Amino acid sequence: MGKWLIKVEYKKIITDDGSHTLFSSKYNQTYHSIKDGAIKESLYKHIYPALNHHKDKQHLRILDICFGLGYNTFLTILENLKSDNPKRIEIFSPELDIDLIRSLETFEYPKEFESIKDIIVQIARNLYYEDEYHKIEVSTMDAREYIKTLENIDVVYQDAFSSDVNKELWTVEYFSNINKATNEDSVITTYTISTNVRLSMSENKFLIYQIENSETKKSTLAFKKTQNKYKFIDMELKKLRNQTAKPIY
Ligand SMILES: C[S@@+](CC[C@H](N)C(=O)[O-])C[C@H]1O[C@@H](n2cnc3c(N)ncnc32)[C@H](O)[C@@H]1O
Repeated sequence: MGKWLIKVEYKKIITDDGSHTLFSSKYNQTYHSIKDGAIKESLYKHIYPALNHHKDKQHLRILDICFGLGYNTFLTILENLKSDNPKRIEIFSPELDIDLIRSLETFEYPKEFESIKDIIVQIARNLYYEDEYHKIEVSTMDAREYIKTLENIDVVYQDAFSSDVNKELWTVEYFSNINKATNEDSVITTYTISTNVRLSMSENKFLIYQIENSETKKSTLAFKKTQNKYKFIDMELKKLRNQTAKPIY
């Protein structure tokens, strides 16, 4: 039987903070929360907590799961460049959709991205960029395979589509490989507060914390070491109280 190739269609959407995102027909989902906004979601759920956790570290290795429109990567660069003492940041990011990456050269990004337009163009054309402070590598490998090639990662921006449509990037097996790729002081940032996803992480000895701010919905941070700044979520207690909640396999 022949194999049918179904073309992914995208619809441009303006989110509530004024920044653009896309709706994907393949995943039947938007790339960002419309209500939180693409910029705010990226900053408040991923970049601020990650950079704050590592404020004293001058060299960071970040795994951006997955590149998509690149908001997490591009806003990390912009935030780093605002600092008096920018860090050396390496970003590793898998993305299966090469056509999407190629199209980013003409994507309508927020106006603050104009200062890094040359970086956006180079990534869209070469899947690679490097300067004094930043090294960005976008890989077209499946994220599940790509993460096995990495080590000593400080930050994971866990920003796949949700677990009902992008299940392979939220499983116990996947987080086992994330555990191997990350160092002892690493942080995983993610928008989801799903108990099943948190169980997939905690099955791999990640400690689960919840963060809240006035700009976006609640989200999750996961660490290997105990933290005292965030609200701890006791997953053993969750399991006892909610017997139907299960890690994802
Ligand atoms: C929610 S979007 C990422 C949004 C992105 N962080 C941003 O700021 O625009 C999820 C992305 O994961 C990609 N993806 C899904 N499954 C993948 C896999 N197994 N390996 C690599 N990329 C994958 C999709 O093509 C999509 O671009």
